[in-house]
Amino acid sequence: MTQSSQLSLTAVACTIVATSIIISFRFKQDSSSNKKNVLDETKNSKKDSFDISSPEETLQLLQKRRSIFPKQYTGRKVPRTLIMDMLEAARWAPTHKLTQPWKFILHESEEAKELYAQFISNHYKATSMAKNVFKEKKYEKKLHSARTSSCVIAICAMVPKFQEDGSFKGNPEVEEICSVAMAVQNMHLMATAHNLGCYWSSSGIYDSKSERYLTNPQALRDFLKLEEYENSDSMCLCLGWLYVGEFEETKGLKKWPKGQRVPLEDGKKFIWR
Ligand SMILES: Cc1cc2nc3c(=O)[nH]c(=O)nc-3n(C[C@H](O)[C@H](O)[C@H](O)COP(=O)(O)O)c2cc1C
Repeated sequence: MTQSSQLSLTAVACTIVATSIIISFRFKQDSSSNKKNVLDETKNSKKDSFDISSPEETLQLLQKRRSIFPKQYTGRKVPRTLIMDMLEAARWAPTHKLTQPWKFILHESEEAKELYAQFISNHYKATSMAKNVFKEKKYEKKLHSARTSSCVIAICAMVPKFQEDGSFKGNPEVEEICSVAMAVQNMHLMATAHNLGCYWSSSGIYDSKSERYLTNPQALRDFLKLEEYENSDSMCLCLGWLYVGEFEETKGLKKWPKGQRVPLEDGKKFIWR
């Protein structure tokens, strides 16, 4: 090996080491300073431009995002400012024709959360008893999940109503649902950046017998008062609940989980032509 190629190899190695130190430092900073919200920071920023995270940091955040379930939450309140950061992230999701079709209904106060806890557990009781599959443990878990969360966000999408001839106004239903899902992913990533626990639950959300398009059970529509947001052209469809809670890593059970995915090389998911 020539002296110049040895030198350039050393330079590359140094750059890699320096970059990983910076990345791990920034990630350590993120988790320790997780009570600082970015919304106010950005508003107060006098900078003309701001740092966009590197591809490595972006991938690390994406890979770190995990569904963290209420049994892993501390039960302490998440500051409103961090929830606002999540909503700010949601707002920037892409939407066809910029319809921004989401409605997020936030159950944050103790009173609202308790109403939600009662609703979701009783809804489970009624539907599972009708099918003879009721389990007391699951009922208790639903109550506990709602109570331990700091905020339960109803994820809703404004979707078009089909007219009698099958026509509809605006974007197709599936596009509006996709847009809302992108907003939820943004929220989930922001929650991850703040080290918050977060997960999307969709259990019992849809009518099993809906024919032409997805519908929610009437009890759920009544609980969320969805009719209030609807008109002759569009209806409000609930896609599930985003549970948000404080997460604190402790020795033993409470660990941030590792994810698993089909590798890029698999060939069945990623098809090159
Ligand atoms: C649309 C949607 C609905 C989901 N509904 C549920 C659910 O009802 N119950 C549940 O345990 N997890 C639910 N999840 C979370 C998945 O179980 C979770 O994303 C998956 O196991 C992958 O784990 P990860 O999010 O940690 O990568 C849902 C996720 C999505 C995107």
